[in-house]
Amino acid sequence: QLTTMVKICCIGAGYVGGPTMAVIALKCPSINVAVVDISVPRITAWNSETLPIYEPGLDEVVKKCRGKNLFFSNEVEKNVAEADIVFVSVNTPTKTSGLGAGKAADLTYWESAARMIADVSKSSKIVVEKSTVPVKTAEAIEKILTHNNKGIEFQILSNPEFLAEGTAITDLFNPDRVLIGGREETPGGLKAIQTLKDVYAHWVPEERILCTNLWSAELSKLAANAFLAQRISSVNSMSALCEATGANVSQVSYAVGKDSRIGPKFLNASVGFGGSCFQKDILNLVYICECNGLPEVANYWKQVIKINDYQKVRFVNRLVTSMFNTISGKKIAILGFSFKKDTGDTRETPAIDVCRGLLSDRAQLIIYDPKVPKAQMMKDLSTPKFEWDQPGSTVPVAEDSITKNVTVVHSAYEATKDSHAICILTEWDEFKSLDYQKIYDNMPKPAYVFDGRNVVDVTKLRQIGFIVYSIGKPLDPWLKDMAAIA
Ligand code: UDX
Ligand code: UDX
Ligand code: ADP
Repeated sequence: QLTTMVKICCIGAGYVGGPTMAVIALKCPSINVAVVDISVPRITAWNSETLPIYEPGLDEVVKKCRGKNLFFSNEVEKNVAEADIVFVSVNTPTKTSGLGAGKAADLTYWESAARMIADVSKSSKIVVEKSTVPVKTAEAIEKILTHNNKGIEFQILSNPEFLAEGTAITDLFNPDRVLIGGREETPGGLKAIQTLKDVYAHWVPEERILCTNLWSAELSKLAANAFLAQRISSVNSMSALCEATGANVSQVSYAVGKDSRIGPKFLNASVGFGGSCFQKDILNLVYICECNGLPEVANYWKQVIKINDYQKVRFVNRLVTSMFNTISGKKIAILGFSFKKDTGDTRETPAIDVCRGLLSDRAQLIIYDPKVPKAQMMKDLSTPKFEWDQPGSTVPVAEDSITKNVTVVHSAYEATKDSHAICILTEWDEFKSLDYQKIYDNMPKPAYVFDGRNVVDVTKLRQIGFIVYSIGKPLDPWLKDMAAIA
């Protein structure tokens, strides 16, 4: 036990670091928490009225602690030097060039953070890996830290974060489990594990705090995300079969999920999964399998991403074939751009691939999302897509086609007015309660709805007069006929 107030510093004030540290500060008044980042605008935003990320409940937590025991700062080195526990929560994107391009994690930010910790430390520290990093990164980091040994002891722990965006605060308040991996085989390692356990024990029941060796903790995070993504790809593959045969995927997934061995959660068919974790973590897993001479295992997991890509392509194809095989010059309203509801995050959102698919068929897009700023959408749409399956290749999009053919508006009604079709790409609650009669009246006929998230009431919309496509649901006769012609 440390006698003075424990000091925590977290490097990286992003989607993981920000909310996690805010909750630690709230639940542990005796701990001083500093969140540092190299980005000046990010830190400025954390210290302002408008936080840099949208997350339900986050504002309240930050307001309660900020300036008391929670601080956001650009003084990275000073805060690291003073800390007892340093969390590293920097970004670990997929490498886009060199060895392992398209699959392996880019550890540039992690490595530079580790080197900086080694340089500025004057006292012993526990260094906690929070970012998702491929198995055995902790070992590499340990090497960096202990190599510059100045008689300082570094204990490395892996403490992967399982929060999901949009529910980060409730997930942190009430986690299914907290996972702490460390050097269980050494007394120093055990002590470090206990120190971090004491932090979480302020609010997490002891039986939910799992302690493992380093590699188990790192691999568990990749495995958990791979299993979750696999459930979605499994149900999405069924959605294609349902459309072909007349089954209803919602009925199928309900019936399947009722089996307690399978469980009801995470079985919603969709236009595809997105987010910063699933694809990246599976690609990491694939790379690790390949490096360990396990191509069969690598291919098994690759298939989860392939089905996800297929689902997005399938959605675009369905739309085009249903609209007489041409959408050139037609206005298409895009409702929702973030990768799921209740977040403004667009990393790997299926909306990017769907919009680019529609643009390549020369549609005119009018996009509305309650939380994603226009600049972010434009940036996402114009960033060349990196093909994980064929590293090095990118799909070209004409720059001017984006600026010319994309309009961003401030409401669903504005987006849908005069549009030939509506695509729902994020399950924002407000899309469920729109006045669809009013929307229908303001659209040229036939008016289409392509629901990529199964949020609309299909029967009601068909009564209004819409031609409705809903993932995995029995097809409108119209859609069936058009698919047969195509
Ligand atoms: C995920 C993990 O859930 C979390 O534990 C981990 O720490 C980080 O990665 P996140 O990416 O924030 O969290 O969101 P999540 O709720 O898992 O959704 C991921 C994607 O899957 C979203 O695009 C979502 O719309 C989609 N999804 C989810 C479905 O298509 N169907 C479902 O049934 C559930
Ligand atoms: C299965 C289904 O469980 C049942 O609902 C359906 O009606 C018929 O098919 P069964 O084949 O009798 O039943 O046994 P089950 O318990 O599902 O096991 C199937 C195989 O999976 C067995 O070889 C079992 O050893 C194996 N198994 C099961 C595992 O290897 N690991 C597990 O975690 C569970
Ligand atoms: P995540 O979703 O994993 O939290 P983010 O990209 O939202 O990822 O956050 C990572 C943060 O880490 C970014 O704000 C980035 O500026 C910050 N960062 C990256 N490298 C360093 C570093 N060496 N020192 C401090 N902050 C860093």
